[in-house]
Amino acid sequence: MGARDSLVGAWAVTSGEGLFGLGISSSTSSATSHSLGYATNYIPCSTSFFPKKPPQFNNRRRNPVVKFTCKAKNGETSPGKFDRRDVLLGLGGLYSTSLAANPMALAYPALPDFKHCVDATQPDNIDKTGIGINCCPPPVDRSRIKDFVPCVTTVNTRKPAYLFDVSSDYYKKYTSAIQKMKNLSPSDPRNFRQQANIHCANCDGGYYLVGSPELYDVHYSWLFFPWHRWYLYFFEKICQNLIDDDTFTLPFWNWDAPEGMQIPSIYNSGLTSPLYDCFRNSEHLPPTVIDLEWFYGKKPEDPKIQIENNLSTMYRQMITQSKTPTDFFGKAYRAGDDPPTIGDAGQIELTPHNDVHVWTGISEPPNAIDLGALYSSARDPMFYAHHSNVDRLWTIWVNKLGGSNFTDPDWLFTKFIFYNEEAKPVRVSIKDGLDITKLGYKYEDVPIPWLDDSAKPKPRAKAKTLPSAPDPAQVFPTTLDKPINVIVKRPKKSGIGSSEEILVIEGIEYDKRNYVKFIIYINEDDVNTCRPNNTEFLGSFSNLPHGHQMTAKARKKFRISQVLEELGADRDKVLVTLIPKSNYPVKINGIKIEFEDS
Ligand code: C2O
Repeated sequence: MGARDSLVGAWAVTSGEGLFGLGISSSTSSATSHSLGYATNYIPCSTSFFPKKPPQFNNRRRNPVVKFTCKAKNGETSPGKFDRRDVLLGLGGLYSTSLAANPMALAYPALPDFKHCVDATQPDNIDKTGIGINCCPPPVDRSRIKDFVPCVTTVNTRKPAYLFDVSSDYYKKYTSAIQKMKNLSPSDPRNFRQQANIHCANCDGGYYLVGSPELYDVHYSWLFFPWHRWYLYFFEKICQNLIDDDTFTLPFWNWDAPEGMQIPSIYNSGLTSPLYDCFRNSEHLPPTVIDLEWFYGKKPEDPKIQIENNLSTMYRQMITQSKTPTDFFGKAYRAGDDPPTIGDAGQIELTPHNDVHVWTGISEPPNAIDLGALYSSARDPMFYAHHSNVDRLWTIWVNKLGGSNFTDPDWLFTKFIFYNEEAKPVRVSIKDGLDITKLGYKYEDVPIPWLDDSAKPKPRAKAKTLPSAPDPAQVFPTTLDKPINVIVKRPKKSGIGSSEEILVIEGIEYDKRNYVKFIIYINEDDVNTCRPNNTEFLGSFSNLPHGHQMTAKARKKFRISQVLEELGADRDKVLVTLIPKSNYPVKINGIKIEFEDS
């Protein structure tokens, strides 16, 4: 038996084993009551979605009310028909026969071990609802897992949330769908809290990575965009089904355009609205303009300036820093890889995605909750509109900016399992979700002002005297608890080819449970007045708190050839400044510039 066989052996389907998710029905985890262990100032949500103890699941077959459904032709996958590779992966057939003949031809995609869902609660890590972080979804009879079959009758248009107010028909439908989800039995995987748990279990405890002591995580890697696309797809299907309207779509929170740069009013329409969530930052309610580079303690900008900054942040992240699929989607993540860190995330996931979470929710540990922390994010109905916009940016990157999807089979054939509108488990693969019209939706074609040249960050107009500063070797490793200036040497280009200069911040050590943010400037002598719409503002590093997993060591890269050219930088060296913007410890081991083929 080769290493890979044993690596994925945990996935082999053993007969008589009917379940892949053990849920939380075991006596060890379900009834444990935790005390908070720290004081909290927050008023608990008065909804029913914070039960005193986690719901108990049982394996009885449920009879969900299904108003309409695609009658799949090839939906049922018989457990006897798995090809070899899929049997190894515990997934059921989707691989081609040539791959089946030689299943070791490829590395394996990163996969969660669904057979062992664990309670992610740690003694020092209990959320303020007092119930701990236990997000195992209801168990599923794996013999009932179906392969996804596209079933498109219409292509519906997801629209920006700002178009709707509480008097609209849309609001009535949307709130009715969410209320119905919230009213479903807690043991129904379509229940709103269970849908949120699916997100939690795939990022913050729940599943271990097959063959690894590390927890599976769909964030900070090339899984981020496709996993969330599929997650929203099924969430939307469940909404459609519950209100018996297969034209219903989720809205998108269009935070990348001025019209959408505040919390959409439909999510802020009173404590009793099903779209309301109480764990949002009360200083950021409408009409406050969102800040896509926000950090705790930052003073609000004039709204006009804030909009300019946001558009430049979009330009920088979508255009200047997103040249390759890895830039945009994040790094490859396969079985046996080290757990992904923020340094591996795609540009958009880092900023603005993380920043929108932090700006909207509550991210300060130990109270990080709802949109402010990964494990609890999907408990806020606004999460789905936030991610709808993230998903829309994927379509823009491909359709308007000439970006391309990965062609690596380990990405294309990565599979996920979700619950469909019939509360049944469905297996999907990334390759089936690349064309959203085949999933039955598209995005309203709204203006994209950051595509315009006017949004491009500009070099500062003022005269500068760059301070002298030490060499990185004299400074690092160090804890980033005050501003750091270093003069970094530019490497001499050797040979031919289209290499680009990359600034690399190495060995960024932080605790994944903490909110971490620092900003990186290049050739700037006055960082206090330098804004995201200046070229000198290179970007930032922001960690959205996890509830689980501890130290991480990240390596973060920034493309700088174009930036240095626009700044008319010295050919030999540049000034790099790091400014910490959170109070949680971050250690940095080094900074350098290297060439990378693009
Ligand atoms: Cu799964 Cu915005 O996070």
